[in-house]
Amino acid sequence: MPHVSAAESGTFAIGGDLPVHRLGYGAMQITGPGVFGPPRDRDEAIRVLRRCVALGVDFIDTADSYGPNVSEELIAEALHPYPAGLVIATKAGFERPGPGSWITNGRPEHLRAQCEGSLRRLKLERIDLWQLHRIDHKVPADEQFGVMAELQREGLVRHLGLSEVSVEQIEAARRVVPIVTVQNRYNLAEREAERVLEHCEGLGIGFIPWYPLLTGRLAEEGGPLARAAARLHATPAQVALAWLLRRSAVMLPIPGTSRVAHLEQNVAAAALTLDDATFAELSEAVPA
Ligand SMILES: NC(=O)c1ccc[n+]([C@@H]2O[C@H](COP(=O)([O-])OP(=O)(O)OC[C@H]3O[C@@H](n4cnc5c(N)ncnc54)[C@H](OP(=O)(O)O)[C@@H]3O)[C@@H](O)[C@H]2O)c1
Repeated sequence: MPHVSAAESGTFAIGGDLPVHRLGYGAMQITGPGVFGPPRDRDEAIRVLRRCVALGVDFIDTADSYGPNVSEELIAEALHPYPAGLVIATKAGFERPGPGSWITNGRPEHLRAQCEGSLRRLKLERIDLWQLHRIDHKVPADEQFGVMAELQREGLVRHLGLSEVSVEQIEAARRVVPIVTVQNRYNLAEREAERVLEHCEGLGIGFIPWYPLLTGRLAEEGGPLARAAARLHATPAQVALAWLLRRSAVMLPIPGTSRVAHLEQNVAAAALTLDDATFAELSEAVPA
């Protein structure tokens, strides 16, 4: 395999002081079906995590709810003691009664307990980036932002992020706590979060697009993505990642996989450069 490194994706400093290579890894797929329980192939999951580090990935996204607990526990098992510079981002805000079932819980006592659990499972004294997985509409938003501020003041978390939010919600949170990342569903084929991305760009907030590999019909034979992939001797998934990386300097894609072979393909996209014409054609293929 030719030399592959996530470093080729460039660097972004989360919160201005936590530099990471922009192409990261999302650790949701190393759990069982329905993001519940242990993965089918535990040894391969451990190999994926170790290969991440070997390939220069220094930004790993997880959550207490992946498994639940399974993803965080595997990260600690595979990688602790952590290499210098590895940033593990986790989240809280869901309960997981069963496979495929996600119940929002933003009660302050739940968020605090989950943060303390993540610290234990990840074997960390401080979490570099802790994200509110969802704003719970059953609980006043300021109470949820308030507990984030407390956890930061107490030194349990270094930086704070949000997930699945609007511009208005980002601004409401920023009145209470500094927000350094936003994680919303965004990919070449689904760009509803464009306004949020532009807002993040303006503020220098890192934007973490989840489901980055979804390409839908664009990847069909004869479609714009398939044509670009053939021209660039790459796969449609790699072109989709290269498009995200070029779309914005604050973009931090976290493609997820449970297989080393797929991880290697995804990280190789860091070195793929899209020419202006290809970037424009792909950008126009789906209206923003
Ligand atoms: N904030 C949120 O609410 C939220 C929600 C969902 C996800 N996330 C985060 O975002 C990360 C990424 O999202 P995601 O995992 O849903 O979607 P994704 O990364 O776009 O896609 C993952 C899927 O693509 C497959 N895949 C990965 N690499 C491939 C390759 N090179 N060739 C073919 N198939 C490939 C994986 O299967 P294999 O395992 O077989 O490779 C898996 O089914 C998650 O891991 C998680 O950290 C956040």
